[in-house]
Amino acid sequence: MKALVLAGGSGTRLRPFSYSMPKQLIPIAGKPVLEYVLENIRDLGVTEIGVIVGERSHEIADVIGDGARFGARVTYIPQDRPLGLAHCVTLARGFLGEDDFVMYLGDNMLPDGVADVAEDFRAARPAAQVVVRRVADPRAFGVVEVDSTGAVRGLAEKPEHPRSDLAMLGVYFFTPAIHEAVAAIGPSARGELEITDAVQWLLSNGAEVKASEYHGYWKDTGQIEDVLACNRRLLGGLTPAVHGDVDEASVVQGRVVVEPGARVVRSRLVGPAVIGAGTVVEDSHIGPGTSVGRGCVLRGTRMADSIVMDGASISRVSGLAGSLIGRSAVVGPAAADPAAYGEARHVLVVGDHTRVEIAA
Ligand code: TTP
Repeated sequence: MKALVLAGGSGTRLRPFSYSMPKQLIPIAGKPVLEYVLENIRDLGVTEIGVIVGERSHEIADVIGDGARFGARVTYIPQDRPLGLAHCVTLARGFLGEDDFVMYLGDNMLPDGVADVAEDFRAARPAAQVVVRRVADPRAFGVVEVDSTGAVRGLAEKPEHPRSDLAMLGVYFFTPAIHEAVAAIGPSARGELEITDAVQWLLSNGAEVKASEYHGYWKDTGQIEDVLACNRRLLGGLTPAVHGDVDEASVVQGRVVVEPGARVVRSRLVGPAVIGAGTVVEDSHIGPGTSVGRGCVLRGTRMADSIVMDGASISRVSGLAGSLIGRSAVVGPAAADPAAYGEARHVLVVGDHTRVEIAA
């Protein structure tokens, strides 16, 4: 079995981050989402992995390389425009050949793994086996109707009136039968080749399609709130380890990782939290659910439930929470000449589609 990981896309819901980095590289508990995906695939015993990449392909290749670090061999497959999940399958036709494969969305986190589904699929080899879970509002998902034996009876992409509460997650298992299906379908109303339509085509043409319910933790990290929620959850599973320097005036409580070369001075770290390599934390209180990247500087700051990416610096800000701070961003008090700005207390230099919430 091979794997096809989808790491292109436009990531509009993750702006402004997706303007400057592929969303699959957003760090969760100190590690890019895509690395968790590749580790999950390796845990299925799959080592031949095709990765669909869009315009930020170089950044993905810089981080993932040839896959050797994951015990895998990675082949990059460029996609000029995000024309849909089924379009990715057509692009990967040469790579996939006549092998069965698992298709995995590169922004989906299923830390509990899908090894049992893979085992079922390998044993029975239905044309397609989709991973589903019950959701409160299925209208934003591909929805499947299933009979009592787990056989899929119908599918619909983002239906206005869902016929079940079973939503497809970002993992699908296919035999080569899917290639005829993706070639047969046309674009949907939103102009994409939908994998849901391809699976429905299989069903309509008499193929067997199965669904397996996933009961573990799952997050589609396509939106800021979900990135932060996933970060909190994964930090909770950390093995505490202090490699960097923590001075005697500092307190470390709970599951905290301080990476090598980090320096913690007169500060309080309350886990779960990660302080990345080479980061300096001074006179600060870093609370639960926070991961700070590498080479950051945090001074006189209190924050919780947040992600700070590499190279960012934050000084003299208290009460930060639920925040995602991008690479090399600078957050702190106004350094501007008060005479020039009159009564103004805030100076903002923020990029397109940025969100800033300031206490009234
Ligand atoms: P989505 O999150 O559904 O799409 P998107 O990346 O365009 O995001 P948004 O809706 O916020 O604009 O995509 C799921 C995964 O599949 C994600 O990792 C990106 C990837 N993908 C591709 O590689 N090629 C594609 O054509 C599409 C649509 C998605």
